[in-house]
Amino acid sequence: MVNYKVADESLSEKGKEALYVAERKMPVTAKVIRDRFTKEKPLVGVVIAGCLHITKETGNLARTLKSGGAEVYLCGSNPLSTQDDVAAALIKEDINVFAWHGNTDEEFYWCIRKCLEAKPNILIDDGGDMIVTLHNEFPELIEKGTIIGCQEETTTGVKRFRAMDKQGALKVPLFPVNDARCKNQFDNELGTGQGIISAIYGMHVLFAGKKVVIAGYGHCSSGMALRARGLGADVIITEVDPIKALQARFAGYQVMPIAKAVPNAEIILTATGCKHVLPPRPEVFDMLKDGVILGNLGHFDIEIPTKELYEYAIEIKPIRRHVEELILPNGNKIYLLAKGRLANLVLSEGHPSEVMDMSFGLQSLMSEYIVRNKGSWKAGIINIPPEIDDKVGFLKLESMGIKIDKLTEEQYNYIHGYLEGT
Ligand SMILES: NC(=O)c1ccc[n+]([C@@H]2O[C@H](COP(=O)([O-])OP(=O)(O)OC[C@H]3O[C@@H](n4cnc5c(N)ncnc54)[C@H](O)[C@@H]3O)[C@@H](O)[C@H]2O)c1
Repeated sequence: MVNYKVADESLSEKGKEALYVAERKMPVTAKVIRDRFTKEKPLVGVVIAGCLHITKETGNLARTLKSGGAEVYLCGSNPLSTQDDVAAALIKEDINVFAWHGNTDEEFYWCIRKCLEAKPNILIDDGGDMIVTLHNEFPELIEKGTIIGCQEETTTGVKRFRAMDKQGALKVPLFPVNDARCKNQFDNELGTGQGIISAIYGMHVLFAGKKVVIAGYGHCSSGMALRARGLGADVIITEVDPIKALQARFAGYQVMPIAKAVPNAEIILTATGCKHVLPPRPEVFDMLKDGVILGNLGHFDIEIPTKELYEYAIEIKPIRRHVEELILPNGNKIYLLAKGRLANLVLSEGHPSEVMDMSFGLQSLMSEYIVRNKGSWKAGIINIPPEIDDKVGFLKLESMGIKIDKLTEEQYNYIHGYLEGT
């Protein structure tokens, strides 16, 4: 019997269409791997819980895991990113879903607990909240060996687990899927890069000719900078890493500290994984230009100091879905996207299916790998096997009809040897 709590079951037909649309653009996850899983059933007897953005792409990951024989539980990894129609459609396919758009913090953790109560064997997290809750509230699942392996989907989650591991607090084998080449070089760069479109969607503004400040020049933010420039924006980068700052400068962007960039900025976008990237101080808020748009695409809603901005504003009014106008004491109006949460997922539908195909192809193959090799690892961070990363790359190329060269034996020996020189 399927267990669930979703917003509105009657949305299932709409959700079914969305799943179909995504499926057609996810040949690796929703066709090649799903077909094989359906035949071979590598996940029979395994319970998998995912704390993920409940989108049409995640829905297709869940269906693939289920086709492999797994019992699947899902909850949202952000209170505002759940697509209610998709959640409704998934329960019709016997996928257990506890997620709805706009849940409170308390409800958010209730949903995570419902998934953990199912005694899962594999956790697939996005941001770390489920695995941290596992450690704090469900230690028996670790002690009794119920959990055989965990996967983390995003940079912020991986950073949290590296910190846990360093302090000896990580008690499960953790696979940082985010660090795979097939993930961060496509999902983060292309997906979040295209997330710029979501910001336009929210305010319907022309990027061309605008001064756009992008905080960070990492995987996500460099993708965002490239797309904003492509749309004709005058892009300014802020960074804390000297090498990243140099990369940004040599790519042709202006680089400066945020306090210097703020007064002229017409759009400010963050994706750093860091807290208070826009400093939470009245003198900084007073420098914000009248009409500036503030959007965050990093995992948590702490990059733009939303709480402090709400407190400082003399008036707050919603002007479009997920866009608020904040009037500051100096009379300037600022436009905050998605309450400072991931604007691409809240205002729009998140990353395109084509890139999530690779991230979720990895998650699918990693689930199989964890089951096949269970018991082989101690607690801690374990790198994604490069052959699985490459496998997803080859499957994606094949689905696009692209062939590449293969090293000859002579070439292989040359690049792995040292004897041949001048
Ligand atoms: N919106 C989405 O759908 C989506 C997708 C993938 C990742 N993410 C999230 O986006 C964030 C960034 O991920 P990433 O993969 O690009 O990380 P990354 O580590 O590749 O890049 C982050 C960059 O931000 C810089 N930085 C850190 N603190 C800063 C500060 N105070 N000011 C300016 N720059 C600063 C770092 O030096 C680094 O270059 C994370 O929270 C990640 O979880 C969101």
